[in-house]
This record gives sequence, C-alpha cells and structure tokens, in this order.
Amino acid sequence: MEKVVIEGVELHLTQPDDVPMVWVGQDELVTQVLAAWLVIGDDDLPLHPRLVGKPGVGKTTLAYHAGRKLGKPVYLYQATMDTRPEDLIVTPVISEAGKIKYMASPIVSAMIKGGVAVIDEGNRMSEKSWASLAPLMDSRRYVESVVAGIKIKAHPEFRLCTTMNDDASTFELPDYIHSRLQPQIFIDFPERDEELLILRANLPFAEEGVLQYVVDFLQAAHEMDERYSVRDGINIARYALKRLVESGERLTSQERTERVVQYMKEAATMILDPNAARYFKDTVDSGDDEEQD
Ligand SMILES: Nc1ncnc2c1ncn2[C@@H]1O[C@H](COP(=O)(O)OP(=O)(O)O)[C@@H](O)[C@H]1O
Ligand SMILES: [Mg+2]
Repeated sequence: MEKVVIEGVELHLTQPDDVPMVWVGQDELVTQVLAAWLVIGDDDLPLHPRLVGKPGVGKTTLAYHAGRKLGKPVYLYQATMDTRPEDLIVTPVISEAGKIKYMASPIVSAMIKGGVAVIDEGNRMSEKSWASLAPLMDSRRYVESVVAGIKIKAHPEFRLCTTMNDDASTFELPDYIHSRLQPQIFIDFPERDEELLILRANLPFAEEGVLQYVVDFLQAAHEMDERYSVRDGINIARYALKRLVESGERLTSQERTERVVQYMKEAATMILDPNAARYFKDTVDSGDDEEQD
C-alpha cells in the first residue's frame, strides 16, 4: 500500500479503479467533459462537471471513460445517504499494532496523485458531506481533515466530476454546492444508431437480430417517455441469452429466435414491469435484412 506524509501525518492511499468501462457513440459528451477539465492559462482553474441523467443512461461510464481518456488514474467514489464528511477525506482505522492508521479516501488519493475523482451518484450524499468538499472546488483546491488534523492540497493535475440521477429520491443540494458543480452535462437516451452501438459493445456474443430486437424495444419505450434505459436493455438480453443456454436444447435457428423473443418478454417483466413487454415486436427481423434498406 502506498503511503505519503503530509504535515507529519502518514496517509495510506487507495488504488485507482481499473475497470472495463468504455464509452461508445455520442463523442460530443466526452468532448464536453474534457473541455470542462481543461486549464487554459496560468490563472485558470479546471471546472467540476456534473453529469446528469436518468439511471442507466451511462453517466458513470462516461465519467470513467473521460478520465481514462486524459491518461490519468481514475478513482471512483460511490456516494450514499450514509456518506459522512470524513469518509470523503481521511478515515482512521486501527492497525495490527493497535496504532491508528489514516486512510486517504479515493478522492484524497486522486488529489495527491494528480488523478481524476468521480463522485458517483453525488445526489445521494447530504449537504453536510458536500460542504467538506467546498474548498476543494474553488480556488483554494484543498480539503481539511478534522480526523488527521491536516490540510491536504490538490495536485495541479487533479480533476473532479460527479454524476447525479435526475430522480426525486435524493437530496436537494444548496446553491453554493450546485454552483461549484458546473457545467451540467445532460445525458439523454441515445438515438437508435448509437443505442445499437452501445448494445453491440456490451453484448459482443449476441446475434445481430437480438440486438436489433432490443434496440427496437428501447426506442419504442423512449418514444413513450418510459424510464427504460440501455442498462435495462442489456440486462434483458443477457438474461434471455442465459436462459437459452441454460435450457441446453438443440434448436434450429428459427426456433432459437422464437425462444429468445419469449425469454426477452419474460425478462422485461422481471427486470422492468409487467407492462414493459408490450414494447416488444412479435417477431425478430434478421439483422441482415435491416442493413439493405
Ligand atoms: N455510451 C455508452 N457506451 C458504452 N456503454 C454504455 C453507454 N451508455 C450506457 N452504457 C452501458 O449501460 C450500462 C449503464 O451505464 P452506467 O454508466 O452504469 O449508467 P448510469 O451511471 O447513468 O446509471 C452499462 O452497462 C454501460 O456499459
Ligand atoms: Mg451510475
């Protein structure tokens, strides 16, 4: 475990996240995040974008991908209702020798290493917790650890962003926090072509016909303002394909297709709600025909 000493106090750092999240399509959104993080002169400061959208539209994936695109280590921090101010900064643990060890949070580890911190689902965290990060998000660029009694400065290369679901089940943040989490980058449901790309990237083992079938479902649901996301589409297809393999039956290609349709309708009921299945067409078009017209 890596250690650093700050104002005489030894801090143990967290490792960055190395996860297989790759963003596909909608390049403009990646550009918006990278632009917000740019520093364009001596007195300039990076911004701290807030990625907002419905659950499952790709906010976490975009944040992680943008960070990796900068070539920096990325530290994901999952915010919850129980996140306390010190959890964001430094927490004490008792070591084997009975001594106190100070553990730097993923955010502080990113600050020290010059990495990217992603505060995921920041809307779940209380104002009190956000308040401890206020000095980090203005020209001060430091945090204070009450627990360790030290002030920790951010590396010039440090970048921060947060993701927030736009649902009602969460904290309303006060203006002084909101104004530090700018700009707001809104992620909407993708267009058909891009949604198909996303499905293909996430389900490389699925036939084209299955992917087309799921994308038709999702697009029909988006049109009716349902909250069903690409994540739901991926989960439905994954479960249906698992059912098919689990059944172990030998099927002709025609039978296989019919079975996938049945399993997907079933999966939609389980993963979403009993109404979801009505957005499925009755049959699967083969993927090859689609491309000709
Ligand atoms: N543009 C995209 N490129 C690649 N995968 C995506 C994209 N949008 C969504 N996904 C996939 O959809 C799922 C949900 O994405 P996630 O980032 O967890 O959404 P959110 O954080 O908005 O709830 C993940 O499996 C992710 O791989
Ligand atoms: Mg997320």
